[in-house]
Amino acid sequence: MSGTIARVKLAVPRETAAGELRVAVSPDSIPRLRALGLEVTVERGAGVAARFSDAALEAAGATLAPDRASCLGGAHLVCAVQPPSADEAERLPEGAALVSFLPVSTPAAVVRQLVLRRITAFSFELVPRISRAQSMDALSSQASIGGYKAVCLGAARMPKILPLQMTAAGTIAPARVLVMGAGVAGLQAIATARRLGAVVEATDVRPAVREEVQSLGAHFVELELEAQAGEGGYAGEQSEEFLARQRELIGQRVEQSDLVVTTAAVPGRRAPVLITRDVVERMRDGAVIVDLAADSGGNCACTVPGEEVQVGGVTVIGPRNLPATVPTTSSQVLARNVAALVGHLVRNGELVLDFDDAITAGCCAVHAGEVRNPALREAVQAGAVPSP
Ligand SMILES: NC(=O)c1ccc[n+]([C@@H]2O[C@H](COP(=O)([O-])OP(=O)(O)OC[C@H]3O[C@@H](n4cnc5c(N)ncnc54)[C@H](O)[C@@H]3O)[C@@H](O)[C@H]2O)c1
Repeated sequence: MSGTIARVKLAVPRETAAGELRVAVSPDSIPRLRALGLEVTVERGAGVAARFSDAALEAAGATLAPDRASCLGGAHLVCAVQPPSADEAERLPEGAALVSFLPVSTPAAVVRQLVLRRITAFSFELVPRISRAQSMDALSSQASIGGYKAVCLGAARMPKILPLQMTAAGTIAPARVLVMGAGVAGLQAIATARRLGAVVEATDVRPAVREEVQSLGAHFVELELEAQAGEGGYAGEQSEEFLARQRELIGQRVEQSDLVVTTAAVPGRRAPVLITRDVVERMRDGAVIVDLAADSGGNCACTVPGEEVQVGGVTVIGPRNLPATVPTTSSQVLARNVAALVGHLVRNGELVLDFDDAITAGCCAVHAGEVRNPALREAVQAGAVPSP
């Protein structure tokens, strides 16, 4: 199935979700979008939090719209970071295409509006993890920044410094950092902690990451456990017996660490609990846990999403949306992902929906009044917010 829409107006409204400081275009991406033959309209102030002034966006070739309604009016393609709220979805131009994050946890009311408005919604979560789509992989670009920022956050809360120092007053031992889950965020956390001079070890259920961990100068902790393989290179969901044994084996490493960064996730499932309260209580006074899986339930039993809690002398941080805390860099790379995905969807200045193409078909969540993605469809049918 394929269709075309002529004279594409691409609109970028200001983000309205709490704490979202990123924006879907940058002064660098606008010329790329215009080179595709698109007219780019940005709502005034949309880039301000990311430090892209209206003047800079205008100088790059964008038309500024004074408000959301005029920005979206007549738009064929809307590019955003967060999915719209239900009210915002109701005001999207009927039949337009939308490019944004659209997690399975998106409220059912939002997805229903997208269906009713016959929006064609492309989701960054659904971009296939294939080499051809790497430039469009916003999950990776943002996870990598999250991994970096998690270590910075942990380091800033620690009562110790990370590197070995040989001083006239004697030798300062390096801090011990443990990274649990060595996917995109975990590998960047390892690299950042190593650059800061810590002794780093990492664990993952996918043995394939061992070499990557070692090449970053970290020790890969081998657990004598047979993990369930997942699909598409991802980790599979492990049994409760497996996780209980994993917690037992890794517990001692956690107790000996000054900083633990957890990133373990299984797509579409609640994050596995890898650190129990008992283990946190046995950790060193002053130790810090930064739980990047906070939004999908948390890898630590003490994590409170969006909060920093004290458990005895241990600080447990459950950050939400860490990439938004460094909005300039995150928006720069995200805007490139947006431009690459839009570039894939546009030919000769027209939006071409070629559903025989693996990338277009793979990341199209909603089209022609139907939810195409099974996980999102189930969530809408259930009417409830499922696990992320
Ligand atoms: N080819 C591409 O373009 C491309 C791009 C990005 C990522 N990838 C691949 O996708 C995979 C994962 O990427 P991600 O970072 O989005 O993953 P993710 O966010 O889903 O998971 C993070 C990490 O947690 C690990 N994990 C899950 N359960 C665990 C447990 N019980 N204990 C310890 N660790 C556990 C996973 O194995 C993964 O490494 C990797 O294989 C990565 O190389 C491929």
